[in-house]
Amino acid sequence: MKKMIINGTYPVSGSVRVSGSKNAALPIIFATLATHGISKIEGVPDIGDVRVALRMISSLGARIAQSENTLFIDTRELSYNEPSEELTSSIRASTYLIGSMLSRFSECKISKFGGCNFSLRPIDIHIDAAASLGAELIGDRIYMKKRAPADIRLRLPSVGATVNALILASSIEGESRIFGAAREPHISTLIQFLSGAGAVIEEKGGCLSVKGGHLHGSSVRIPGDMIEAGTYIASALVTNGEISVLGCEAEELSSAVSAFSSLGADITISGGEIKARRGKASRAAHIVATPYPGFPTDLQPIAAAVMACGVGGIISDMVWQSRFGYLDTLFSFGVRYKKMLAGAIIEKTRLSPSAVKAPDLRGGVAALLIALSVNGHSEIENADVILRGYERLEEKFRLLGQDIRIEAS
Ligand code: EPU
Repeated sequence: MKKMIINGTYPVSGSVRVSGSKNAALPIIFATLATHGISKIEGVPDIGDVRVALRMISSLGARIAQSENTLFIDTRELSYNEPSEELTSSIRASTYLIGSMLSRFSECKISKFGGCNFSLRPIDIHIDAAASLGAELIGDRIYMKKRAPADIRLRLPSVGATVNALILASSIEGESRIFGAAREPHISTLIQFLSGAGAVIEEKGGCLSVKGGHLHGSSVRIPGDMIEAGTYIASALVTNGEISVLGCEAEELSSAVSAFSSLGADITISGGEIKARRGKASRAAHIVATPYPGFPTDLQPIAAAVMACGVGGIISDMVWQSRFGYLDTLFSFGVRYKKMLAGAIIEKTRLSPSAVKAPDLRGGVAALLIALSVNGHSEIENADVILRGYERLEEKFRLLGQDIRIEAS
């Protein structure tokens, strides 16, 4: 277990380049299992979740070569195996085994899938999508009883279920259609990968049309992580600093830019650079997380930290309606709030350093932002959960003038 030690109050200053997107890289690593060949994936972040995903696919026989942030994954010779529960229970992306193992082996064990524990995380939509394509759940295993293209109707635009539906439909001969799919940018990156592998995927009349078949190796570059970009922008706002963020598509971040601007941030975008600082007066606003292109739920705890360090505000989440457990952790720094249905009112209060345990990835980052903003020594236990999602976080914050170090605890 790791602990983060922060001596806060220094304004963030300088520029930072974001790493490849965690939530784009993970589906593609699992999707390689559905292909028969060698795939090249560039820009993969070296983070805990990716390392676990790679251990899982190598336990099925995938051969992996790594050169800095580029991965070469050879899936020509795989054999059916059940990745250990120790691995599947440690990351949420192990749900992508459903689509990829059904594609390759027509069988998958429904394990204890892990990930941040901020809410109940059902998988009914994943199972229903697979069932539309011919799968049947028997006990704790799901089998492809037949492999037939079909119309898949997702009851919610679940990112994970869209990933599984895309992978599985891409491996089935004929045309399937996915209605109600998620539209997050990482879905487009997966589509790019699967198209390179031989699937024909198009947006047609409000659905995704997928013409699948035999998939070969593919190649793709993972785009910059918009949640990491939003995190560094927030760090400048909470410390009254000034930052230049490089390496991400500003368009993907437009809802976050307007949300942070509504809290008083001064943000300018030119070319591939996003510059941010706190404007003259911070404002109280109501920010609502909704599926893409709305404000991302993964920045919701981070926006709450910005509100807490400013004049307060109201934060709501329509994706994970109970993703507010992290507020109990922020309470230790002096954050005062009132929970509402699917949201919370964050009050303006005086904050002070504290020692806390990171509740989950983004809740842990919200705690880190507050620790950076207050004058004095704070500690965050269970920092591994934060490092699962941020590449070289300590080094990047140090280069931005922050006094932060990570030690074994
Ligand atoms: N849902 C169901 N049934 C399902 C699947 C989802 O009811 O079968 C509900 C969930 O309870 C939730 C909503 O649908 O209320 C959306 O969940 P979704 O399936 O979209 O989330 P996910 O695929 O499990 C991914 C990211 C999360 C991110 C969400 C939403 C990965 C590995 N995880 O999760 O990222 O919050 O999409 O954008 O890509 C993070 O990075 O911190 C993180 C939690």
